[in-house]
Amino acid sequence: MPALVLLGAQWGDEGKGKATDLLGGSVDYVVRYQGGNNAGHTVVVGDQKYALHLLPSGILTPECTPVIGNGVVVDPSVLFSELNGLNERGVDTSKLLISGNAHIITPYNVTVDKVTERFLGKRKIGTTGRGIGPTYADKINRVGIRVQDLYDESILTQKVEASLDIKNQMLTKLYNRRAIAIEQVVEELLSYADRLKPYVADTVLVLNQALDQDKVVLFEGGQGTLLDIDHGTYPFVTSSNPTAGGACTGAGVGPTKISRVIGILKAYTTRVGSGPFPTELFDADGDALRRIGGERGVTTGRDRRCGWFDAVIARYATRVNGLTDFFLTKLDVLTGWEQIPVCVAYEIDGKRVEELPYSQTDFHHAKPIYENLPGWSEDITKAKTFADLPKNAQAYVKALEEMSGAPISAIGVGPGRTETIEINSFI
Ligand code: GDP
Ligand code: IMO
Ligand code: MG
Repeated sequence: MPALVLLGAQWGDEGKGKATDLLGGSVDYVVRYQGGNNAGHTVVVGDQKYALHLLPSGILTPECTPVIGNGVVVDPSVLFSELNGLNERGVDTSKLLISGNAHIITPYNVTVDKVTERFLGKRKIGTTGRGIGPTYADKINRVGIRVQDLYDESILTQKVEASLDIKNQMLTKLYNRRAIAIEQVVEELLSYADRLKPYVADTVLVLNQALDQDKVVLFEGGQGTLLDIDHGTYPFVTSSNPTAGGACTGAGVGPTKISRVIGILKAYTTRVGSGPFPTELFDADGDALRRIGGERGVTTGRDRRCGWFDAVIARYATRVNGLTDFFLTKLDVLTGWEQIPVCVAYEIDGKRVEELPYSQTDFHHAKPIYENLPGWSEDITKAKTFADLPKNAQAYVKALEEMSGAPISAIGVGPGRTETIEINSFI
């Protein structure tokens, strides 16, 4: 029974960190399976706020073992500064496990990410500039550097050469930049080896043995369904698979082990970076959602683009992930609107379309068809049960559930751990 996947059902920043932290108390392992420090997961515990980028949100629960799986890309300098920051605040991070097969974000791939974006100009993706895309590209091109490579200097040097030679050609001849010295990169990478060593493990074996012993394992997605390299709004996506299947490849656990897939769904929609977003608002409502929802990126500090809830997207997320449940977040942010528009379908070239179009061009032309739902003005942040919610808030949740295709099993009414209404238990 006990493997669960928790992932973003929209374009990221749905509140995965909070949801993971909440479940952390009842699980034995929390595993990141894709992405890297492009993620920004906020967890609020009491009066303490934590911003996690690479570490699984389970790190804040002492009983829980945090795991960085083989599918993650790791920037060691970011990892160490995150660990230092947590240690300074009294968080014990000694249980962390890191897959020896996880790929390393090398300094040259951070450079390549930034110069490529600059070169793309107005066609840029709006990446987080953390080297994510180039590192996954190296992995697929079979010139990536893995964590285990740090423990064989000769192999490491050969691999850095293989990867960097061609990039230096590109940097100097195409982008007019200075070449990066191979020795300097090798030296920097080797300097991380000793500190990383105690964390490095055969995480595939550890997790499968844990599952055999009926331990509870939670896979925490970064990014979101619509940022998935295969199922998202390509090319305006990240370079990994945040969708449920990514948990299997990114952690080495078979699909038969996964019993529950929970989609984290914001009560409205946000997006950071470029790409289509049918319900995006450019008016006072958009500004209000951004202000009330605190919609500013945890990683890059960019303002998030904001819009109304999009049920077409939610239905799509249910389908491609096989969602069993939703965790609806930030319902409190919608308090105060007299009417709340919800996108129920799109109009594309004069036709009503109920499902996400497979054609990128159609999606770019999609105009939202809205249904207005009655709002509420009562403060809901203290609500503990579904019955505590005002009738119109209950109806809003029920309408979203009906349109989205999976039961809403929890509702966030504030950023804190306790500001959650639990409807069906997850474990
Ligand atoms: P993640 O990337 O999916 O983990 O989400 P982020 O942390 O980037 O963004 C979600 C933001 O919403 C964070 O600031 C959370 O503290 C906050 N948050 C999460 N759930 C709720 C909620 O139910 N209500 C409110 N008001 N804030 C929430
Ligand atoms: P969490 O886990 C929102 C977006 C970037 C950009 C695109 C590609 O906090 O939900 P990348 O650096 O990954 O190559 O950028 O993906 N993006 C995110 N947007 N939340 C995230 O993570 C994101 N991680 C990447 O803004 O549009
Ligand atoms: Mg985030």
